[in-house]
Amino acid sequence: MRHLIDISDLTRDETNELIETASDIIVNPDNYTNKCSRKKIATLFYEPSTRTRLSFESAMLDLGGSVIGFSSAQYSSVSKGESVADTVRTVSCFADIIAIRHPKEGAALVAAMNSPVPVINAGDGGHNHPTQTLTDLLTIVREKGRLTDLTIGCCGDLKFGRTVHSLITAMARYSGVRFVLISPDELVIPEYLRNGVLKRENIPYVETRSLDESIAELDILYMTRVQKERFFNEADYVRLKDSYILTPDKLAHAKSDMRILHPLPRVNEISTAIDYDPRAAYFRQVRYGKFIRMALILKLLEEAEE
Ligand code: CP
Repeated sequence: MRHLIDISDLTRDETNELIETASDIIVNPDNYTNKCSRKKIATLFYEPSTRTRLSFESAMLDLGGSVIGFSSAQYSSVSKGESVADTVRTVSCFADIIAIRHPKEGAALVAAMNSPVPVINAGDGGHNHPTQTLTDLLTIVREKGRLTDLTIGCCGDLKFGRTVHSLITAMARYSGVRFVLISPDELVIPEYLRNGVLKRENIPYVETRSLDESIAELDILYMTRVQKERFFNEADYVRLKDSYILTPDKLAHAKSDMRILHPLPRVNEISTAIDYDPRAAYFRQVRYGKFIRMALILKLLEEAEE
């Protein structure tokens, strides 16, 4: 059974195929309206979400399928102590495919190991968020026309920001990609990414504390929120939460065709004064998330039937 737990579960060619399918869905939505009739997705969200859950549900509805699930563990038997494994075994009796978000790293893998239907990781703790990365890649293709030869700045909470971890892993597979990693000392990328991806694959990268000094060289600026829910200490969060705020003054130094991405939700790290700048792609990015999830659901259900 094919699952998507980590972005590396997809080859680069498969990722490109998903982007092609999503691009076709954008142009020819009517060709896809009945592709999943009589199919159900279960969205099991143990952690809050707006975009990911609703885009999975919209994706399945636009494919002609239907949706079951819960948006908070408190409204399921999880609140009585049921394990992820038992929950998934149960839900797979009712659904053809499962999307799960959980605050614990590895929970989606546990779900996959216990599921007879495809499982999609919709975010596991500070670890991975592969469908956000597919969304990010589709956004970069739609906005820049390519996934190669790009200088990508990742700014903010690079330690706990699971979307950055998956993005670096995915973009490291394309030629000519260079990373500028902008964070406070306390929130630098985890060692497993620095050694296991960037150094091992000889990907050019720099680590810096300064957005002001880096912004002019970037093709993509990937802003992230400081992840309050991952801090053990409130004082540390308060000290670090406003480390970077993208304002019109700062943006004035960026390339005219740079694109700003953000997985959202935004807290304070991008001034709303930027929202109508053509470089601000983050709400277009939300829209692309539905199309790439449609492509992914189609692929995993097709493979499950083979
Ligand atoms: N980008 C993202 O995962 O947003 P939600 O937390 O709203 O799903």
